[in-house]
Amino acid sequence: MKPKKKLMLIDTHAHVNFNAYKSDADEVVRRSLAGNTWMINVGSQYSTSKRAVEMAEKHQEGVYAAIGLHPIHCQEGFDYEEYKKLAGSPKVVALGEIGLDYKAEYVSSKEKQKEILLQQLKLAGEMKLPVIFHCRMAHENLIEILKSGILGLEPKGVIHCFTGHWREAQQYLQMGFYLGFNGIIFKLNLDEVIKKTPLDRILVETDCPYLSPPQASERNEPLNVKYVVEKIAKLKEKSYEEVGEQTLKNAKELFGI
Ligand code: NI
Repeated sequence: MKPKKKLMLIDTHAHVNFNAYKSDADEVVRRSLAGNTWMINVGSQYSTSKRAVEMAEKHQEGVYAAIGLHPIHCQEGFDYEEYKKLAGSPKVVALGEIGLDYKAEYVSSKEKQKEILLQQLKLAGEMKLPVIFHCRMAHENLIEILKSGILGLEPKGVIHCFTGHWREAQQYLQMGFYLGFNGIIFKLNLDEVIKKTPLDRILVETDCPYLSPPQASERNEPLNVKYVVEKIAKLKEKSYEEVGEQTLKNAKELFGI
């Protein structure tokens, strides 16, 4: 009998570069890789973007970085040239997380958010990198920006932590984007969206340290992406292996890993 090929998963949206792992980030990464789970650590400010790159450069395979300024941090200001330097690392696989966040406390910075988003889309275009979008309560505006072909860019990317309606999902899918799902699918009912989204357009993620699935401890980590794979497999009536393999393939295609 042929030995069974080991199944590799990838957490396409982790924040092991955040302070929640200040004392044990290396250990969390080691544990994930030993458990056949790769990760993309995503920046939300310049400091965490830089840290994501440093962490990725320590590993030959399995740890990657995304760099970007999250809309809730837009007051920090986006330094195009500094981010461009970071983007020069071969371990940087995306610009992100970037986007729009219209939660009540951030809504006053709408204009600034848009301005910063456009600068980052320009950098993504220049560096030919895909984009990891954060979008909260702002799908209408994000879709409008993406459809407008502003700056002549057509970024490829993923709508991370997708929690919208199917009609919004459909518009992103039509534009060629992927949808990212994480432990929030245990809290909000996204069953219909998951069932309808083709498996070859789904990415799995944890958004750790946040959004831990109910089966896991409070501080989430990349290894828990398996619970998300499990739930998607169940909803789509497919095997765990098929969902794991296909979502890794999707991530490799999008991020050029
Ligand atoms: Ni995130």
